[in-house]
Amino acid sequence: MMEKTKNILVTGSNGQLGLSLKKVLGRNIEEGKRKNNDNFLFTDVNELDITDKDSVVDFMAEHEIDVVVNCAAYTNVEKAEENEERADLLNNVAVGYLASACKDAGAFLIHISTDYVFGGKANTPYTEDMEPGGGSDAPCGVYGRTKLAGEKIITASDCKYLIFRTAWLYSDYGKNFVKTISNKIKENTTSGDNGMPGSIKVVFDQVGTPTFAEDLADAILTVIDKRMLDRQGVYNFTDEGVCSWYDFAVEIGLLTGFGSTIGLIGKKKVCRIIPCRSDEFHSKVERPSYSVLDKTRVKDMFGIEIPYWRESLKKCISDLAEADVIMTAYNK
Ligand SMILES: NC(=O)c1ccc[n+]([C@@H]2O[C@H](COP(=O)([O-])OP(=O)(O)OC[C@H]3O[C@@H](n4cnc5c(N)ncnc54)[C@H](OP(=O)(O)O)[C@@H]3O)[C@@H](O)[C@H]2O)c1
Repeated sequence: MMEKTKNILVTGSNGQLGLSLKKVLGRNIEEGKRKNNDNFLFTDVNELDITDKDSVVDFMAEHEIDVVVNCAAYTNVEKAEENEERADLLNNVAVGYLASACKDAGAFLIHISTDYVFGGKANTPYTEDMEPGGGSDAPCGVYGRTKLAGEKIITASDCKYLIFRTAWLYSDYGKNFVKTISNKIKENTTSGDNGMPGSIKVVFDQVGTPTFAEDLADAILTVIDKRMLDRQGVYNFTDEGVCSWYDFAVEIGLLTGFGSTIGLIGKKKVCRIIPCRSDEFHSKVERPSYSVLDKTRVKDMFGIEIPYWRESLKKCISDLAEADVIMTAYNK
C-alpha cells in the first residue's frame, strides 16, 4: 500500500553521492521500482547553504521537509589540515543546524559519516559497537575529527537519525580514485624509455573497502522507500570485501586493459603497477592503515544485499568508458 508522500531534501547534491542518488532514483522511477511517490528536492550550496542556520530552518518549513539526506561535507582530507575552521563548520557545526532543524520539524536526518572516525589501528573489521575516537585509535586528522564531531552532535541532538559510515567512495562523478588512477595508468602505458610501458606506484599498506556511491545511494533509497527510517542508529556501509589501494589499482588496470602487476596483459605491454609503502609519498595527513567496516548490522536491519567491490567497480568502469570519461583497451 502506498503511504503518505514524503518531502525529501538532499543537501550537497552536486557531489558524488548526491549525483549518484539522483541517478539511482531516476533509474528506479524508469524501472517502476518505487513503492512510494516521494518528492525529492536536490540542493547544493547555491540553493541551500547548510552553514546558514536560518536558511536551513526556513527551507525545511517552506517545503515541509520530512527527511533530510545530508550529502554535503568538507571532503578534501589534505586541505582540511589547513582549513580546520571551514571543515569543522561543514562537517560538525552545520550538521548540528540540520539535526536541530530536523528535531524541531519532527523530520528524520540521514547523515553520511566515514571510516576516518577511527584511527585505523585495528586488525579486525570495525563494528558499530566500537566507540570511535578513543586513545591510540583517535582519528588521524582534521577530516576524521570533524566528521566524528558531526556524528556526536547528531546523537546528542535528540533528532531522529540514521548515520551511514562509508569509505573509499567512487562514482561516475567528481574526482575520485577510479578516474584518477585509470587515467594515470592509461598515460603510463607508453611513458617509459623509447615508448616502452611505464609504471605507477600505489600504496599497499592501507587496507579498506571501496564503495560505489550508487550502492550506498541504493541502500538509502531503499530505507526511505520501504519506510524503515525509524530503525535509528549508526550503520556501516561499504561494498563487500577487503583490499589495499594497490589491489584496487591493479583491478582498475585489468578492467581497463591498460595496467597489471607485471606490465603485461597476455603478450601486450601495459603500465606496470608497483606496490609501495605510504611513507614513500609525502602527505600532510596520516591515513588509517586499516579501516574495514563490518556490515552485519546494516544487512540484518534493512535486508540489504551488498555487492562485492570488484563487481561494482566493473559496472562503474563500464559506465565511465561508455560516457567517454575514461578509455579502456576494450572500447577504444
Ligand atoms: N569521498 C569519499 O571517499 C568518502 C569516504 C567516506 C565518507 N564520505 C562521506 O560521504 C559523504 C558524501 O561524500 P562525497 O564524496 O559525495 O562528497 P563531495 O563529492 O565532496 O560532495 C559534497 C558536496 O557538498 C557541497 N557543499 C559544500 N559546501 C556546502 C554547503 N555549505 N552547503 C551545501 N552543500 C555544500 C559540495 O560543493 P563543492 O564541491 O562546491 O564544495 C559538494 O557538491 C560525505 O559526508 C563524506 O564525508 C566520503
